[in-house]
Amino acid sequence: MTGLFITLEGPEGAGKSTNREYLAERLRAAGIDVVLTREPGGTPLAERIRELLLAPSDEAMCADTELLLVFAARAQHLAEVIRPALARGAVVLCDRFTDATYAYQGGGRGLSQARIAVLESFVQGSLRPDLTLVFDLPIEVGMARASARGRLDRFEQEGRTFFDAVRSTYLKRAEAEPARYRLVDAAQSLENVQGQLDGLLPQLLELHRG
Ligand SMILES: Nc1ncnc2c1ncn2[C@@H]1O[C@H](COP(=O)(O)OP(=O)(O)OP(=O)(O)O)[C@@H](O)[C@H]1O
Ligand SMILES: [Mg+2]
Repeated sequence: MTGLFITLEGPEGAGKSTNREYLAERLRAAGIDVVLTREPGGTPLAERIRELLLAPSDEAMCADTELLLVFAARAQHLAEVIRPALARGAVVLCDRFTDATYAYQGGGRGLSQARIAVLESFVQGSLRPDLTLVFDLPIEVGMARASARGRLDRFEQEGRTFFDAVRSTYLKRAEAEPARYRLVDAAQSLENVQGQLDGLLPQLLELHRG
């Protein structure tokens, strides 16, 4: 038995964390075993790596260090949480995954897609999400929402160019592989966004039934 691996992606403040609960509840209501998790993080050790990644620091973190920490956390998360859950047939709903690495470390930091792809294969083997929901919205709308949450983390302190590259990387990836991605118009009201997610639900249930 194999489960279904769904990832939620998009820039800061797009509503991934807000809507993952909503989606989990809807799937659970349909009687599905749902594992709700996030990256970087998802296990105690990987959450400690997350803290290293997000904390502003006087010592600049070099881009390769950042990339390797992201994949180190991912290796732990895959081994402890994601693979076991998929093996027992659960739906894994993950708030950010490797598309975020392509968007932030690739688009944002300028690391080559090819180098990221090497680590992706090293850490994941052939495992890729079955479906990726990209919460898309204008950068300034997401930034305004995120800054209303309080103190900015190390990524949120980046500038406009960084986030334009993040957004455009997500959109390019979605365009290149339309079978795996679904775009959500995340600039709309929460009610509207949840309506869009309701619209995707039959496809998710169908995919899970296989
Ligand atoms: N559709 C919406 N309209 C208005 N506000 C929203 C909407 N969706 C989420 N928000 C609010 O915007 C803020 C950011 O949302 P959320 O934390 O879910 O974003 P995120 O995509 O998880 O961001 P990050 O990538 O930084 O974790 C929250 O305060 C949330 O309540
Ligand atoms: Mg979030």
